[in-house]
Amino acid sequence: MIGLYGRFARPLLGLLDPEDAHGLAIKSLKFAPLPRARADDPRLAVTALGLSFPNPIGIAAGFDKNAEVPDALLRLGFGFVEVGTITPRPQAGNPRPRLFRLEADEGVINRLGFNSQGAEAALKRLAARAHAGGIVGINIGANKDSADRTGDYVRLIELFAPLASYVVINISSPNTPGLRDMQRAVALDDLLARVVDARERVAERAGPTPVLLKIAPDLSLAELDDIVGIARSRRLDGMIVGNTTLARPPSLREAVRAKQTGGLSGAPLFPLATRMLAETYVRVEGVFPLIGVGGIDSGPAALAKFRAGASLVQLYSSLVFRGLGLIAEIKQSLLAALDRDGLDSLIELIGVDAAAVTAEPWPA
Ligand SMILES: Cc1cc2nc3c(=O)[nH]c(=O)nc-3n(C[C@H](O)[C@H](O)[C@H](O)COP(=O)(O)O)c2cc1C
Repeated sequence: MIGLYGRFARPLLGLLDPEDAHGLAIKSLKFAPLPRARADDPRLAVTALGLSFPNPIGIAAGFDKNAEVPDALLRLGFGFVEVGTITPRPQAGNPRPRLFRLEADEGVINRLGFNSQGAEAALKRLAARAHAGGIVGINIGANKDSADRTGDYVRLIELFAPLASYVVINISSPNTPGLRDMQRAVALDDLLARVVDARERVAERAGPTPVLLKIAPDLSLAELDDIVGIARSRRLDGMIVGNTTLARPPSLREAVRAKQTGGLSGAPLFPLATRMLAETYVRVEGVFPLIGVGGIDSGPAALAKFRAGASLVQLYSSLVFRGLGLIAEIKQSLLAALDRDGLDSLIELIGVDAAAVTAEPWPA
């Protein structure tokens, strides 16, 4: 699905069914020789979650669901890669078509529904590259037909913690019926207690694996109060804000496609996701770092995420429309912003606009 070789391949890949194009992109990353991106300017380095990131731009979950190409993605210049969502058992996800491009909006709607080759396949691949280095987070989810969803997360933590730079508890996909209900206070407290407990149990052989929670951008502020309170009391290591939205901003130009069921990502998600990031930042009070994701398609958009409270950022949908050149472009733009302000590091910008963003009218 990604305009793999930049602008030239775009018209061709754009003709393909989006899911076929994505399959082709994964295949090319697996088999095509890739140039290694230039070494990162040290001013882009970030230390967070006890890890040293060469740069703060990651590829979001959902691109490499089965951990097939993490090393290729690192070579391309991402500072970190998040693979998954991985479910315990293989599952097919929803019937196709289930992935739609909103070209005029540079948005994507997906209702994939955790199509996953399952834990065993991913585990094998991750074990084979265990000593390759680079920061690889593992995003985990429950099977749709699971009788014990909390148990699924516990099992996957035990399984993947030894191989993960960090683990993400994904309870914010809109495409698995009932999954987002796990964000409710009582269920969430139980889930996080058990997940953190599992992490402690395996710490001796796995080390101190950071555990993060990925939330939906569609929460009310009262729900966000509860979630941040629970994440803090259960001593989570960080949060990712956030997943795709069920909302359909009135500004969308592709009115027909916009009616497709599923989660919306890409440029139209940016205002809501950035607002939720700032709202989360002011509630977290610096206790743990946030990863900002949703609609980043340029250097200024990435910079706005740091200023709203992100210590790290991730992107996915914009690669479809802008190609892989975007990674280098964002890095250049961030360095130019540091030069402009006479700063040595992005760390000095984290959250400086959070209060101002939360005072704006709610994004439509
Ligand atoms: C096709 C597609 C599949 C996705 N699959 C997952 C997933 O498996 N797990 C997850 O946590 N997020 C998934 N996401 C959400 C992204 O990780 C990200 O949170 C969201 O797309 C917003 O970022 P973006 O606007 O840069 O795409 C998916 C997004 C897309 C477009």
